[in-house]
This record gives sequence, C-alpha cells and structure tokens, in this order.
Amino acid sequence: ISAQTKIEIVSIENSPTISKHIYGHFAEHLGRCIYEGFYVGENSVIPNSEGVRIDIIEALKELQIPNLRWPGGCFADTYHWMDGIGDLEKRPTIVNTWWGGVTEDNSFGTHNFLNLCKELGAEPYLSGNVGSGGVQELADWVQYTNFKGKSPMSDLRRENGKEEPWGVKYWGIGNEAWGCGGNMRPEYYADIYKKYVTFMSDADVEGGIYKIASGASNDDYNWTEVLMKNIPKNMLQGVALHHYSVIDWGAKGPDVNFDEETYFKTMKESWLMEELIVKHTAIMDKYDEEKKVDLIVDEWGGWYEVSEGTNPGFLYQQNTMRDAMIAGMNLNIFNNHADRVKMANLAQAVNVLQAVILTDKEKMILTPTYHVMNMYKVHQDATLIPLSFDSPMYSFDNESLPALTVSASKDSSQKVHISFTNIDTKKSNTVVIDLNEFKLKNINSTILSSISLQDHNSFENPNKITPKNFKDFKFAKGVLELTIPPFSVIVVEGDMM
Ligand code: AHR
Repeated sequence: ISAQTKIEIVSIENSPTISKHIYGHFAEHLGRCIYEGFYVGENSVIPNSEGVRIDIIEALKELQIPNLRWPGGCFADTYHWMDGIGDLEKRPTIVNTWWGGVTEDNSFGTHNFLNLCKELGAEPYLSGNVGSGGVQELADWVQYTNFKGKSPMSDLRRENGKEEPWGVKYWGIGNEAWGCGGNMRPEYYADIYKKYVTFMSDADVEGGIYKIASGASNDDYNWTEVLMKNIPKNMLQGVALHHYSVIDWGAKGPDVNFDEETYFKTMKESWLMEELIVKHTAIMDKYDEEKKVDLIVDEWGGWYEVSEGTNPGFLYQQNTMRDAMIAGMNLNIFNNHADRVKMANLAQAVNVLQAVILTDKEKMILTPTYHVMNMYKVHQDATLIPLSFDSPMYSFDNESLPALTVSASKDSSQKVHISFTNIDTKKSNTVVIDLNEFKLKNINSTILSSISLQDHNSFENPNKITPKNFKDFKFAKGVLELTIPPFSVIVVEGDMM
C-alpha cells in the first residue's frame, strides 16, 4: 500500500499561459532525419507531398506541432541556404562534416522546408549560419523568405516559383556558438550576435522577427550572464539552452538493453533540467525583471549509443518507456516554468536521438515519446494551474530522486488537464487533489505504460505501446484520487461546469 501524496492548487490568479511552442520539434540534416526520413523525393513509391512522406505529415499534424527548427544543430553553421534553392540539377553538393561525412545533394532546401511547415500548420524556426556564413548571407535569407516588395532576394524567390513570402518569425543566430558553431567566447559571440541581427530586417513580420541567441550548454551560467548583460533587450527575444539526458559522453549506454543503474542515471540527468531552468532564469531575472526575454530550450531529450549496426554518425536510437519518462518529466517541468520558458524543441523529430517517429523504408512507427507528446498537447496555450506537493522519492542504491512530476492547466474551452509522470520502477504512487474550485464533471483519463522499461514499438510490433483509457481513479465530492503505476504517464481531463 503506497502512501498518499497531497497535491495543493496554488492560486491561478496571474498565472502564465503555457506557450504552445514548448511542444516544438527539431529536424536537422543529420543521419536519416531529413533524407530517408521526412524527405523521400517526389518520385518515391512512398506516398508523398512535394517529396515529404504523407504518413509523417499526418502524424505530426495529429500532434499539432507548433514549430519546427531547421536545418540544425551543428549542420546549420555549415549550411549555405542559397545552395538549396533553384534548379535541382544545378545545386552544388555539401559534405555533412558533423554527421557521418556524407555528401548531400541539397535537394531539400528552403522552399521544401517552409512549404512543409505551412502544410503542418507549424511555425518555421530557421537556424542561421553564423559560424561559416556571412552577415549578408543571413540578411539575404530573411529578405528571401519575408520581403513582399521588389528586391534582389524577393525577385529570386519569385523566379523560383514563390510569389508570396512565407513570413518567417523565428530565427536562431547560430547554434552552440561555444562549440560546433565556432568555439567562441560569450563576449565575442554577444558582439557577433548584435552585428548579425542589426542587418536582419524586422519590417516584414508583424511585431518584428523573433531572434534567439545561441545559448548555454547545461550549467554554463556565465554564458547566459554575459549575453544578458551585453545584448540590449530590444535586440533579443529569446536565449537558448541545450541540455540532453546523457549519462556520460564517453559511455552513453545502450538504447534498449539498459539496466536499472543506467536508467536511474538517465533520470538524474533529466531531472537536472529543473535546476538548470531555475538557475538560468535567476540570471535572466537579474537583467530582465519584466521577463521580456524568453528562455528557449531548443535542444533536449535522451541521448544513448546508436542502435547496434547503425552508422555512429547518424545518431539513430530506439525509443523505450525510458524515453516516455524523459518526455513526461521534462514537459511537466517546462509547463511549470511557463513564465520564462516559452519554447522547447525535442531533439529530434524523425530517426535521430529521442525521435517521435522512426522509419524503415516504407514503414513508419510512432514511439512512446510521440504518444506522450500527443497526450500532453492539451496543455498547449492553456493557462497554467500552479501546483505544490512533496514528491515521494524513487531510490536506487544510496541515491534518490523525486518520483513524480505533475503539471496542470485550464484551456479556453473550460477543460482542466493534469499530467502525471511516475519514474519509479517499482512503486505505484497515489495522489489526492482537491479540484473543487473548478467544479469538474465528466472526468476521464489516459495512461501510457508497459510491462517492462525496455519495451518499445518496433517495425514488427508498432502498437506494443499506445495510450489506453485509464479507469482506476476515484472522483468524489470534487476530490480526485489516483494511483500512478510504476514508470507510467497519465493525463486526466475534466470539464468545468
Ligand atoms: O541534436 C544533435 C546535435 O546536438 C546538434 O546538432 C547540436 O546542436 C547538439 O550538440
């Protein structure tokens, strides 16, 4: 019999909106993410729209993905966008130096990506090349995608068949400038940042374009401090942060056949997200009390050794119930920090790292992470309901971590949703929450769980793990009592009367 955890609702007054962009994705030219993943080409036997797989488009539409970041990652600082427009036959090739050294033919370029985003109903988030590309090159990309009138770049766009601009709002100014983006010092990058954004036109997007500075790796608090101190607020809408749940860069552990010790270490790394957000936010608060600049976690997720027999440079890994735990926990953390975290991008959408979709030729499967994102999408643009509770602990060896993460929201159609993730491998955890202030009726709930932590969907058994209706809760006199099984994710929904 497990003890009960009492969850209190903190006042909802002045509570922030959970930006839908927290549920964002990332698609890099890396391994089989773009080529053989999203993009199979118009002549493929696999059903496609302008060369992009229709099954992937449908799956991402169902997920209501709010934004998609492209073309990298490290690749972005090697990418010259002009090589990916115009006559296919005349496009130069590019060697993907970061990821496997493969030669790409630039057949998937700006038009393909931006048209895809339109079809998905997602905002494009373009990562500009600051490492090896020039100021003019990035300024021209903005003009090419956004300028309505007559100009060299908008004329070129029209020549390439696109009359109306796409109006791209989200722009990253380089990626991991402290590493693959140029190995810069933060002071130097802050200057470079100002120089690049000075020439990126704001004029063609309502409210101006939204510029995101390449942010810190993990706990590099000095990086955030230097950017916040040196970049004027009117030039900066978002500061990025990258944090992967990786146990040891030298020995990342297997994607499927991991033991509990490895699982515990992964969860410990995953929990670090909470501390990182709190500490980076504290620095941002020092320079920006009014919270005008957003924290953008534009790379997060689990990172393991690649699946056996696959190219080490392609970062292909299976996705198990461990990944469902990472997703459920991190999304709860982001929701609960909705006042500062306004965007997050899971790395990556298809066939790379913690993917929501895996493909094998004509076959496609949805991973446990996909299902968690699908269950949690109800929080997009809803009002956060702040909660307070002391989590029971999940212990392994002599260490322990909070077992439960929970977040709640109220949406515009007067529905309340509460998402729970229990990372404990053995213990169920019972929670009690008084929901009387919302006068709820029609309570229902959905669970994602499986027999073993290593369970995953495969091309042979694509529906081993899918969300199921969960009836094992009590709701009486406005009080919800629910027992969350080990390593499971539950989302409860209720209508306000
Ligand atoms: O997502 C894979 C890589 O991880 C990205 O290219 C880079 O930004 C990060 O180091």
